[in-house]
Amino acid sequence: MPEPYSLARFDALTSTNDYCLEHLGGLADRTVVLAEVQSDGHGRFERRWISHIPDNIYISIVLKSGLFLEPSCPLAAITQYMALTVCRLLQECGADAALKWPNDVLVEGRKICGLLSRTSISNGRLAGYILGAGINLNMEADAVGAIDQPATALNLVIGRPVDRDLFLSRLLDRFFEGYAAFLRKGFPSIKEQYTAQSPFLGRTITVNLPDGPVQGKAAGFDDEGRLRLVTPDGDIRILMVGDVTVPND
Ligand code: BTN
Repeated sequence: MPEPYSLARFDALTSTNDYCLEHLGGLADRTVVLAEVQSDGHGRFERRWISHIPDNIYISIVLKSGLFLEPSCPLAAITQYMALTVCRLLQECGADAALKWPNDVLVEGRKICGLLSRTSISNGRLAGYILGAGINLNMEADAVGAIDQPATALNLVIGRPVDRDLFLSRLLDRFFEGYAAFLRKGFPSIKEQYTAQSPFLGRTITVNLPDGPVQGKAAGFDDEGRLRLVTPDGDIRILMVGDVTVPND
């Protein structure tokens, strides 16, 4: 049985993530905030997230219970657990989806889903974790072409329109079905599946970090979901965040 969650729908918000951060005190654990459209959707690295298409998914999930700011809590890897859940659901829908560490889901090298999480800390304690997800389900080819990075949408990949609400309820059921166990067991419990869906492993990649790009061979993930990168001089870098570029992607 999927664990319960509640869905709060809005016709329009600036950003579901911003709404959840601003109203966190009044939002219960496992509230999913959905906006039909966002006027100021954010992506990673200060990018914008195109958010004017109601048939796509723009959601933020409020998570509070059972989370704490200690290394034993797999806080950072919750987004990786969600990325894997999205990836597998897209595959069941007929898309050849794959993961790009840490949180992107791609089809044929084009981004179809992005995740952006926010942690809210109050008086040194974790007040909540907000997991934002944007998934391109139904778009015109022209609209994906206008995105500032290679992108696609599920309808373009499988050649038919996608029922957003059905996709969303299947996604949230799956996510919450495994969420409590994931919190207990952490990234090791999904490491094998996450690794299997990460086709860039073994290749030489560039990871853009706040202090500049670093190149190396993607060697795998540690038990926290961090990327192990072997640099040309043989050093092993353990990376928590970054923007991966794979040659020819
Ligand atoms: C990325 O750059 O890959 C992350 C994109 C995350 C977009 C989603 S849409 C719902 C939520 N609200 C936001 O403002 N951003 C996230």
